[in-house]
Amino acid sequence: MADKAPFYITTAIDYVNGAPHLGHAYEKILTDVMARFKRLDGHEVMFLTGTDEHGQKVAKTAEANGREPKEFCDEISLKFREMGPQLNLSYDDFIRTTEERHYEASKTIWQKIKENNPDDIYLDKYAGWYSVRDEGYFTEDELTEGVDSEGNKHKVAPTGAPVEWVEQSSYFFRLSAYTDKLLKLYEDHPEFISPDSRRNEVVSFVKGGLQDISISRTNFDWGVPVPDDEDHVMYVWLDALTNYITGVGYPDVNSESYKKFWPADFHVVGKDIIRFHCVYWPAFLMAANLELPKRIFAHGFINVNGQKMSKSVGNVVAPKDLLDAYGLDQTRYLLMREVSHGQDGNFSHEYAVQRINSDLANGLGNLVQRTLSMIYKNCDGAIPTPNEFNADDKLLLKKAHEHLIRDIRPDCNEMRFNRALETVWKLVIEANGYVDAQAPWTLKKEDPERMKTVLYVLAEVIRVLGLTVQFVVPDAASKILDQLKVAEDQRDFSFISADHMLVGGTEIDQPEGVFPRLETDKAA
Ligand code: MSP
Repeated sequence: MADKAPFYITTAIDYVNGAPHLGHAYEKILTDVMARFKRLDGHEVMFLTGTDEHGQKVAKTAEANGREPKEFCDEISLKFREMGPQLNLSYDDFIRTTEERHYEASKTIWQKIKENNPDDIYLDKYAGWYSVRDEGYFTEDELTEGVDSEGNKHKVAPTGAPVEWVEQSSYFFRLSAYTDKLLKLYEDHPEFISPDSRRNEVVSFVKGGLQDISISRTNFDWGVPVPDDEDHVMYVWLDALTNYITGVGYPDVNSESYKKFWPADFHVVGKDIIRFHCVYWPAFLMAANLELPKRIFAHGFINVNGQKMSKSVGNVVAPKDLLDAYGLDQTRYLLMREVSHGQDGNFSHEYAVQRINSDLANGLGNLVQRTLSMIYKNCDGAIPTPNEFNADDKLLLKKAHEHLIRDIRPDCNEMRFNRALETVWKLVIEANGYVDAQAPWTLKKEDPERMKTVLYVLAEVIRVLGLTVQFVVPDAASKILDQLKVAEDQRDFSFISADHMLVGGTEIDQPEGVFPRLETDKAA
């Protein structure tokens, strides 16, 4: 039932210079959770992700592996694409920047900038610092002195990546002409960058004055050729950022998908790449006379046992390690519950097991298991028909039907999923408390009719919880809803109301556990 405004959300597209790790997985799950929430809440959603395949970093890694760049990209891109089924990502399209459609879009945006603002692209010579790892230019005053693993001193970018001195003929983009327009954008649309801490960071960077940026390279050829000058390839970030419009049909600005979905509602990216998204991207779009995305959300980094993930520390976690140890939905829940809005998150095994067992196995899982088992055994395997609801029943049902989605929606719309889940689990805790207080096992002998009402209330609250948690734990939620025989076409949020309650007499299957308890040793 998609009756609200179309919603377009993207993730960063990942470099294909290594296998996906937990950080990539976190970003994709975070975006997927938002996309699913919006679909369930009645929006037609377009969710785009993909791989960023050009540039010196990828070319160098391919060469180090003795491979042709395209062949290397094909192999690594597949590993990122496979995160889709592995993590149950509901993306609608997976874009590769080596696709023909993207070449066309990238060349067109270049031409449009030139056509609309002929002074904005000019040929000159670049002489300055470049970090291949960041694929970014840095000024002298941003650099610090670093020491590499062999003890050699060299200059490093703020990200810790070494920089090299580059001198070459290059096209430039007149970014300096956009300082005031960008500051006005941040001023007029404070929501453009969130969280606020990142917004402040960007504003102070732009206030410091912008320099024109080099947007083409001549010392390698792994990129989109610059229109009318085949000696140059485009700077990888200009091509990469353009993926967000390629994905909805650019350069065909009259296509149905472009008209429907551009401008994007959310670009979800890591905190390390806000300069590209919040400064360069809107400036490129302004220069090309295209609309700007509505919001950039910068998430934090996932650290492992309190440390930044790095190959040299040896603490890089592959998404598969977590899926094998905890299960898919458990991993999705853990990441969404543990990481606060825009903050760094820490992964540690001990805490993960504790969280999964307390919230999923003992919390929601136990609520579903004990309720459905009691119904199956004591109500002839069918949802009981309730008698009159008392005040406690009515209060619990009201919280489920009227408060739950209303309470979590503002947090979800701001991507504060940790808070939204905390709210959902308050209801899980209340429902478990209701089971204990009502003690249906005692009612079984003393007042079997009241027992039926209590079990009905619980089943109905579980239906609502099952519908609600679909955006975070889709498989487990389906299991819950399947067990309650909720029809497939009655699973969006519009069915969370007293008008769509379970029908007494509906037969259910023998209940199966939804979230097994993790054994600490096995998971380790
Ligand atoms: N290719 C660029 C993005 C281009 S978007 C037009 C890039 N790729 S990346 O592979 O280096 O990173 C992809 C995304 O993963 C980025 O948003 C980055 O911030 C995120 N992460 C990389 N490591 C991460 C963590 N440890 N934790 C969370 N996210 C992290 O940048």
